[in-house]
Amino acid sequence: MKKLTLALCYLFVMTIINAQELKSPNGNFELNFSLNKEGSPIYSLKYKGKSVINPSKLGLELTSNESAEFGAEIKKNKDPKTSLYDGFNISDVKNSSFDETWQPVWGEAKDIRNHYNEMAVTLNQKSTDRNMVIRFRLFDDGLGFRYEFPQQDNLVYFVIKEELTQFAMTGDHTAYWIPGDYDTQEYDYHVSKLSEIRSINQQGRSSNLSQTGFSETGVQTSLQMKTADGIYINLHEAALINYGCMHLDLDDKTLIFQSWITPDANGTKGHLQTPSTTPWRTVIVSDDACEILASNITLNLNDPCKIDDTSWIKPMKYVGVWWEMITGKSDWSYTNDLKSVQLGVTDYSKVKPHGRHGATTENVKKYIDFAALNGFDGVLVEGWNTGWEDWFGHSKDFVFDYQTPYPDFDIEEIHRYAKSKGVKMIMHHETSASVRNYERYMDKAYQLMNKYDYPAVKSGYVGNIIPRGENHYSQWINNHYQFAIEKAAEYKIMVNAHEAVRPTGICRTYPNLIGNESARGTEYQAFGGSKPNHVCVLPFTRLIGGPMDYTPGIFEMDIEKINPNNHSHCNSTIANQLALYVTMSSPLQMAADLPENYNRFPDAFQFIKDVALDWDNSIYLEAEPAEYVTVARKAKGTDKWFVGNTAGYNAFTSKIGFDFLDSDKEYIATIYADAKNAAYKTNPQAYTIRKVIVTNKSKLTQLSVPGGGYAISLVPVTDKSQTKGLKKL
Ligand code: NOJ
Ligand code: CA
Repeated sequence: MKKLTLALCYLFVMTIINAQELKSPNGNFELNFSLNKEGSPIYSLKYKGKSVINPSKLGLELTSNESAEFGAEIKKNKDPKTSLYDGFNISDVKNSSFDETWQPVWGEAKDIRNHYNEMAVTLNQKSTDRNMVIRFRLFDDGLGFRYEFPQQDNLVYFVIKEELTQFAMTGDHTAYWIPGDYDTQEYDYHVSKLSEIRSINQQGRSSNLSQTGFSETGVQTSLQMKTADGIYINLHEAALINYGCMHLDLDDKTLIFQSWITPDANGTKGHLQTPSTTPWRTVIVSDDACEILASNITLNLNDPCKIDDTSWIKPMKYVGVWWEMITGKSDWSYTNDLKSVQLGVTDYSKVKPHGRHGATTENVKKYIDFAALNGFDGVLVEGWNTGWEDWFGHSKDFVFDYQTPYPDFDIEEIHRYAKSKGVKMIMHHETSASVRNYERYMDKAYQLMNKYDYPAVKSGYVGNIIPRGENHYSQWINNHYQFAIEKAAEYKIMVNAHEAVRPTGICRTYPNLIGNESARGTEYQAFGGSKPNHVCVLPFTRLIGGPMDYTPGIFEMDIEKINPNNHSHCNSTIANQLALYVTMSSPLQMAADLPENYNRFPDAFQFIKDVALDWDNSIYLEAEPAEYVTVARKAKGTDKWFVGNTAGYNAFTSKIGFDFLDSDKEYIATIYADAKNAAYKTNPQAYTIRKVIVTNKSKLTQLSVPGGGYAISLVPVTDKSQTKGLKKL
């Protein structure tokens, strides 16, 4: 009995010794850290006194192969080398605080505050004498933590078998999720209880040209959740550098998520060398959904900008020879004569054009004219280079050379013409996932862009990755995406990568990464349609890591009108499409529809021409995942504001005030809204436009129909005559 009491006392004392606590600057969050009796690190998180992450284990499991240099005495133990998850003591705890305000090159705000309390816990594993630091940063809106592996004798090269980070949920929350997949993120979102993820995954998934699921309870991050008592929890990662992308796998009996890193081709999950770190794991929490959208945790956990001269990085609004191919009106390819194309072998001078090639000099000039006429910065051209007759599906290594234009695309003349019109061209590099081939040509490709003055490239990774066996989100290929961004910076080129790993705030460090797709974009509206609430989920999930090249602006929703053989229909109204330029902030925004469709609705098109790309300030006014998002943004360096609202499956009556406006000004508000009878399936082009006078005391009640929305531009009145005939709101 005495022994038992002593043992209990010892345990209690041990727990007390090990327990560490950290509070956020505003006191809303409390992080607890301790070691359990096996010496495994455990953390938990409370928000406003309520548990949001129950006690959860931390650590990593290594493979044994790279650890051969460890001493013989270690080998006697039951393979302790593979554990970086138990047997630890706390050897040091350092607490500190940080508060700075920094200015992004572009983004949702001019100033971003980075304010946190930090706790760095150094753990020593006695049996191996290895050290690992777990660094926690507690912000006013959530938590970031990562593993750090300092330089040391007993941990030099190591291979991760699995990261064992847990996120123990406190209940069967509602989750807004897409299935875990090593190769694609281009899914519609499910909204379900955590306990329903397995059965929904069992029902199958929509198909994609490359996809690799791994578990019936696997999901991707950023994962948005909502608790029964109205707390919003978002799990993601920041600064994904030299590591595999993190998925989450749910134990649906205990409701504990565990990290599931995308493996390399050989099945291992990361090859590291000390000193090194993992990416940050993030937990953003609030009882107000707007605060999830306003969080800057992801950016703040990335390193400051590493590009000295950023003067060449400029937001771009663009049109492109693109939607006509996506809808099937025209094609990327030039001829039907070639079943097989080989670099350096195929002779295009002998083939017959099929007449449906989109990227002809003549057609591109029409887009350049349209861009110049309407004040757009750029024109994207896809299908300009040879190879599209035979570009995917055969695991083809030597696919494109990114150098050779089709016979009917005169790159010199396009350069001359675009320059004469003051329009920049955007290059397209589809790699068809032959990453090795892209790296072979990358320097030459970027040099060609410099020669012809292309400031930005849209790259793409459609299909299965080459080298064969690699996936789209493993450490190996993430290093390629990073290489492409850094190499582009050397050439002063901005990058917009499609099908690449989802962003994790790296655009803070490399702001030439102006866009990513990495989710289901507008193209799916022409591939059968996306759910009408998709754009009310994306801000809570995909956009947590950075902007998306969503390519909004579709005015003709009935795709049959563009291509009679394509029976897709966009699940969106025109007013919803306009709102996306504000709700889905990006320094790179496309007006994706065909010029002729914009010419049919010049008054609605005016909003796309006017809307800004870069902001001094953003204020989220109303938000609920999958239901609605309303945000007001102040255009950078001006007194103009823009407001956007999108609604999901249900109609939404938005009620906003304008107290963000200057109190000493009047503004002319142009409100682009759904007409009362608008409907995303049957009447998507019904909108109204009205002009009213607005001050910072004004209030607006505005209906958005299902799949609808509204957009407002607010311009300060500079001359009383501008308000003639206008009513006050
Ligand atoms: C998929 C991209 O998302 C799309 O924008 C592009 O047009 C095609 N790949 C072809 O590269
Ligand atoms: Ca895509």
